[in-house]
Amino acid sequence: MKNKFYKFAIGAILCLSVIAPIATFATHYTSTQNEKETNLETKILQSLDADNMYNNIKFLSKTPRVAGTQQEDAAVAYIKKQFESYGYKAEVQAFTFNDYTAPNSIGLDVERFSKKLNPQALEYSVSGKATAEVIFAGLGQKNDIAQLDLTGKIILLQRGVISFKEKMLNVAAKGAAGVIFYNNAPGTIMGSLGEPNKAYVPSVLLTQTEGEAILIHLNKNPRAVVSLNIEGAKSAQNTSHNVIATKKPNVSNKASHDILVIGAHHDSVASAPGANDDASGTAMTLELARVLKTIPTDTEIRFITFGAEELGLLGSNHYVEQLPKNEISRIVANFNLDMVGSKDAGELILQTVDNKPNLVTELAQDASTQLNGAPTPYNQGDSSDHVPFSKAGIPAALFIHNPAEPWYHKPQDTIDKISKEKLQDVSEIVSIAVWNQIKIDRQVK
Ligand code: BES
Ligand code: ZN
Repeated sequence: MKNKFYKFAIGAILCLSVIAPIATFATHYTSTQNEKETNLETKILQSLDADNMYNNIKFLSKTPRVAGTQQEDAAVAYIKKQFESYGYKAEVQAFTFNDYTAPNSIGLDVERFSKKLNPQALEYSVSGKATAEVIFAGLGQKNDIAQLDLTGKIILLQRGVISFKEKMLNVAAKGAAGVIFYNNAPGTIMGSLGEPNKAYVPSVLLTQTEGEAILIHLNKNPRAVVSLNIEGAKSAQNTSHNVIATKKPNVSNKASHDILVIGAHHDSVASAPGANDDASGTAMTLELARVLKTIPTDTEIRFITFGAEELGLLGSNHYVEQLPKNEISRIVANFNLDMVGSKDAGELILQTVDNKPNLVTELAQDASTQLNGAPTPYNQGDSSDHVPFSKAGIPAALFIHNPAEPWYHKPQDTIDKISKEKLQDVSEIVSIAVWNQIKIDRQVK
């Protein structure tokens, strides 16, 4: 007993004499590091200014900012100017897209057919008139039409197996003057010809019931004449822009090849001035760029506002597509800020494409726990610019309030619905989440 105690005591003394100086040094080292970090963290939190975000939202949301319009151009110029005023060089990245205007009038008249028809436009269908005999050509596959003379005729085609575009190109190549598509299942659908093409002839889309009624009618009236008249459809090339401001890392170390992307979309839909959707995220991206400008980091940060999100995530798709492979592999995280400041929306939520946590949700949950005592929840969502990043294998998440405000995509999405408190809360969570990833003395990555 005695002996054991003695051994232990000697051992403990020996151990302490070696460890103590190291421990003192380590405590000293980490405490200065921690102090620096705490100071920088405090600096970040104290610099974030909801008034700045509010004023930028106010400026941006005077009008809708539809991609490819002068109002988008004005927003792009404003965002660029703001980035530059914080000391960044801002790059404006142009990309083109197909801008389609749907017809304002769709006429379809079938000879001696008495039931009322409700023809719909397909996206990218063209304007024009055709009056001709109608022929049924099944699914419109090449072998369905091989034996048919389609020249100058209007072709009735059933949906299915191949795309509307392929059906259209098959019959147009054989001289068709027009096409009537009909659904192969009950209910209505939004049809699309996929992309503009000069070979297209005027076309409409009917329901299954309407199409089958015409087929029955054709059995009794084999040479019935149809008139198609489509007016006002237009396809044009248009240009939208992404705005990119880059903060290079301040040190060169293991992490300094990493890139972190903070982004939002600056365009809006035509029906809304988009104060919350998404001038709020744009203004928050600007504010984070301003606040982080003077903070030393080991990671490159790209602050990006995307164009044409509302037309199908076009700006973010373009951005990710044009990145060299080695840059894609260097991007460690994408923070997507979309609808982050409405008074009338619910609580903050994170959304990932696969409904799984990733680096962004983990950083955000740690930050929200640190700031508010509880982690921000997450669920699934794929309706914004984090999608192309996620598809490229980059950890990405959307920051949004749930449920959305009733003014979403409405003319009432205006500055008076913006909450400075929500802007402040979200920007604090995002900035601390980002900070924990980019601070220079990170031990674990
Ligand atoms: N900000 C919205 C996305 C959104 C709204 C997400 C409400 C969650 C709740 C975005 O600008 C948008 O409207 N997206 C489109 C889809 C996109 C692919 C064109 C949408 O949701 O209809
Ligand atoms: Zn949006």
